[in-house]
Amino acid sequence: MIYFDHSATTPVHPDVLDLMNSIQKGVYGNPSSIHKLGRKAKSVVENARKQVAKSIGAAPNQIIFTSGGTEANNQVFWSRINQDKKHVISDTIEHPAVLNALSQIAIFGIDHDLVTVNEKGCVSITDLESAITENTGLISIMLANNEVGTMQPLKEITELAHEKNILVHTDAVQCLGKMPIDVNNLGVDFLSLSAHKFYGPKGIGILYFKNKESLSALMIGGGQESGLRAGTENIGSIAGMGLAAELATDELGNHITELKSFESSFKSELLSFSPNAIFNGDPENKLPGLVSVSFPGYRSDILLAKLDRVGMAVSSGSACGAGEVKPSGVLSAMGVDDKTNISTLRFSFGASNTSEQVDLLLSELKTILTD
Ligand SMILES: Cc1ncc(COP(=O)(O)O)c(C=O)c1O
Repeated sequence: MIYFDHSATTPVHPDVLDLMNSIQKGVYGNPSSIHKLGRKAKSVVENARKQVAKSIGAAPNQIIFTSGGTEANNQVFWSRINQDKKHVISDTIEHPAVLNALSQIAIFGIDHDLVTVNEKGCVSITDLESAITENTGLISIMLANNEVGTMQPLKEITELAHEKNILVHTDAVQCLGKMPIDVNNLGVDFLSLSAHKFYGPKGIGILYFKNKESLSALMIGGGQESGLRAGTENIGSIAGMGLAAELATDELGNHITELKSFESSFKSELLSFSPNAIFNGDPENKLPGLVSVSFPGYRSDILLAKLDRVGMAVSSGSACGAGEVKPSGVLSAMGVDDKTNISTLRFSFGASNTSEQVDLLLSELKTILTD
């Protein structure tokens, strides 16, 4: 199988896998134990904390380990219950781990408004400003979108929010290893990451926070993670994520260059035999290597199945279920009509790809689209 679905998840980096295996085998102490084996486990966790913190310009004590991006996002929203200002602003193209979480906590008094995006998938600062009320305590806007890759103007958003004493969360799950991330430069108060998007293991992520006071625990128990996330630490995965974060930032420049080159050759070649193809999102301000394309006149589930049959994994830009394709909420929010919407595929290139593989993909697409 040739894999072009790195935005869904990434294969684990071989060095990360080796490290995790050796830790699972050799480091079995509980990080909370005082004896030597416990101290060894604790040092593994703390080393990983430093690695992940460094990758986003944070201090190690500003990071807690979570089970992934979904939990990190949830923790920020549920924490609002203990804060005075309970109104949250987000936008219409966030991941379900933001949109569904916000919908479900409404019954606990956390109300929210969603600002719309333009046809490129970008939020407007003016719209955000208009949505602010006296009760707004948090703005949550993703750093870049998972379906179309559009990057949001986070720095401007934090400047606006902080003038009005509003905190800012960003879901940066798609971003580590594909763009530089510096929490101080962005100015955000919270940031979520997930290891499986940057060649680390699944089921582990982090939540960065500027100040501990603005956060409450979701998992309550033994007091681990400074009381902000109880439960015995997932040491192997934490160590794996630490190394994955370090590798992702060490290789950032080269990786971006490679992704951009895959993307530009894919796009230009595709247009040569499929001139009606429409690229969704912002052509400039986007994550490299993530390409959302609509093929008017085709159905995404059929295209996806044809590619699957010849051993190529891509993602549908829309949700498929029980034989029908539903339009993607992200694309609809960007103004894409339903017919075009359900003809959309997402190709996301990554470290496991070569330019020969991209050529093979193009040749299969040519057969499928011109037959
Ligand atoms: C933007 C975004 N946020 C959150 C998540 C959820 O992260 P996790 O799988 O670690 O819970 C994803 C994963 O697809 C994502 O792309």
